[in-house]
Amino acid sequence: MSSSSSIESILTENRSFPPPAEFSKDARVKTLIDYESLYARAERDPEGFWAEVASDLQWATPWKHVLQGAFPTDARSPGVTWFAGGTLNASVSCVDRHAQSWRKNKAAIIFEGEPGDTSVITYGQLHREVCKAANALTALGIKAGEFVAIYMPMVPEAAIAMLACARIGAPHTVVFGGFSAEALGDRIRDCGAKAVITADGGWRRGQILPLKDNVDKAVEGTTVEHVVVLERCSNPIAWHGRDKWWHEVVDSASSKHEPKAFDSEHALFSLYTSGTTGKPKGILHTTGGYLTTTAYTTKMVFDLRDEDVFWCTADIGWVTGHSYVVYGPLANGATVLMYEGAPNQPGPDRFWDIIAKWGVTVFYTAPTAIRAFMKWGDEHPARHDLSSLRLLGSVGEPINPEAWMWYRKQIGGDRCPIVDTWWQTETGSIMISPLPGATPTKPGSATRPLPGIDVDVVTKDGVSVGANQGGFLVIKRPWPSMLRTIWGDHERYVQTYFSEVTGCYFAGDGARKDADGYFWIMGRVDDVINVAGHRLSTMEIESALVSHPKVAEAAVVGRPDELKGQAIVAFVTPRSGMVADDALAKELREHVATQIGALARPEEIRFAEALPKTRSGKIMRRLLREVASGSAARGDTTTLEDQGVLEKLAQSYAQEE
Ligand code: PRX
Repeated sequence: MSSSSSIESILTENRSFPPPAEFSKDARVKTLIDYESLYARAERDPEGFWAEVASDLQWATPWKHVLQGAFPTDARSPGVTWFAGGTLNASVSCVDRHAQSWRKNKAAIIFEGEPGDTSVITYGQLHREVCKAANALTALGIKAGEFVAIYMPMVPEAAIAMLACARIGAPHTVVFGGFSAEALGDRIRDCGAKAVITADGGWRRGQILPLKDNVDKAVEGTTVEHVVVLERCSNPIAWHGRDKWWHEVVDSASSKHEPKAFDSEHALFSLYTSGTTGKPKGILHTTGGYLTTTAYTTKMVFDLRDEDVFWCTADIGWVTGHSYVVYGPLANGATVLMYEGAPNQPGPDRFWDIIAKWGVTVFYTAPTAIRAFMKWGDEHPARHDLSSLRLLGSVGEPINPEAWMWYRKQIGGDRCPIVDTWWQTETGSIMISPLPGATPTKPGSATRPLPGIDVDVVTKDGVSVGANQGGFLVIKRPWPSMLRTIWGDHERYVQTYFSEVTGCYFAGDGARKDADGYFWIMGRVDDVINVAGHRLSTMEIESALVSHPKVAEAAVVGRPDELKGQAIVAFVTPRSGMVADDALAKELREHVATQIGALARPEEIRFAEALPKTRSGKIMRRLLREVASGSAARGDTTTLEDQGVLEKLAQSYAQEE
């Protein structure tokens, strides 16, 4: 960031934008006072509040208890349950009840493929497709409680597959198509998936993602018995005895399916995300609580209407795709837009073309994408009619004030409110966000917690810090869409989220709260980095690097990047006798891409004879971060085992410059 834009950033940080009167007039929550009284009501009687919210879903049997238990304190604590005794089927709330109403012929999914093919699926059609897919999975022998992995492009069948799994009570684990065969295999092994639903390929920037080839490699030696393959790109693929075409098993199945109701706490899905160790965590979400809060937040944060065309650009492989492409909007009977490909295919105006073509009203994307649009130039959105838009959203990483201002002006025409939404895979749904008709916004702040959510910034001891002081972001009271466990590792769950700050859920983010009670997220305080809105663990990339035979030791840090938020820098000590040259750097970058996926490929590899360590042998990451970002190392370095190491690192940096 240049110094003039930093000054601009400081100036805009202090600006506040009231919600546009035109928007507030018809909004669900119209004033800050209304927000505050709703918040206070939820605080006085959280159970009464959540019970009312949950009654928006279609329950087969009413619950007996709204909330039972508390945040776990050790691995033996049972933790919390929401709506215990209640039963429901998630696909009924998302599909059947709309298909049986006036929405039967309303568009549920508008699909645009990257090559330009399109389709519109009504709620009536979605219902028939979900029933057929549920029957097909049942015919393959998939039973309630058995995991199904989904590794698909952004096509309607991906959402149909998720809903079909939910319908038969088989928890799904969706793996982003950009993850490698190795990463997919690890996830399949961890949850013991019995089937994989995939496609021959998916379109991305005019190229075909070889999804089926990756599945073939990933399923070897696993519990997978069936691979269902959607024909998308008609690319040549190998065929095995376990493979079945989607169009053969699904299209021929009956479109009648009697849904069974499952316990509110029945597992709906697990989604793998990076933590602070080398092994990704299977974040487990359950049915009633997850659906309650995703449906509620979609309705409130996006002030959703039946007339809306709602476009969340996230891939269904991420939690944003789960909650705001599939479950949240569909539970509200909304029309969602799904786009398969890259934002600059065939040109840098593809998104604006889609918005104008389909009359998108609510657009929800990530800061990295916004920064890329800024770089590509104002002329691209300017060429399209974006007047259908009424609300903009941002998610996944802190949004810098410049990007916020650009988004507001160039995309929102200075008329659309912006909701900067803070949340995580673990929280299941949005926790901190403006309510667009009520909350004045400040560029770069996610503003205030939603009614029902008790968030604070505290010290390690759990004491609230004063206004504008940095601390740890925590959630103080259980909420319905909170994760229930880490699949297969309840101890790690308790350790990671409930042991850092007594009595609270620890989010892993640093934050400050300003004098108006607005939250400013400062980024991760653990070894998780956020690259282009994708969450990665430095340890995971380090384990991938040290698994290479030429590597003795590796340390990975993030350095600020104007476009991606953070970029990956790896410090590597080669094994003795190995030549540290460009060829090795290239080999290692590719190795990481094969082990994890292209999204984890280091931007830079720096070779070092040794890594700076404390006397107890801990790598001094802070120092490496400073070296990587080009600033001189500051602070106390006397604990360095070898002072020379840092100097060499710093020198190598200076030489490159
Ligand atoms: O650091 C925060 C950042 O993304 C992390 C969660 O990543 P993930 O589980 O992949 O979910 C991303 C989509 C919800 C958080 O710990 N993050 C997410 N939203 C924001 C954010 N940082 C700042 N502002 C946000 N609005």
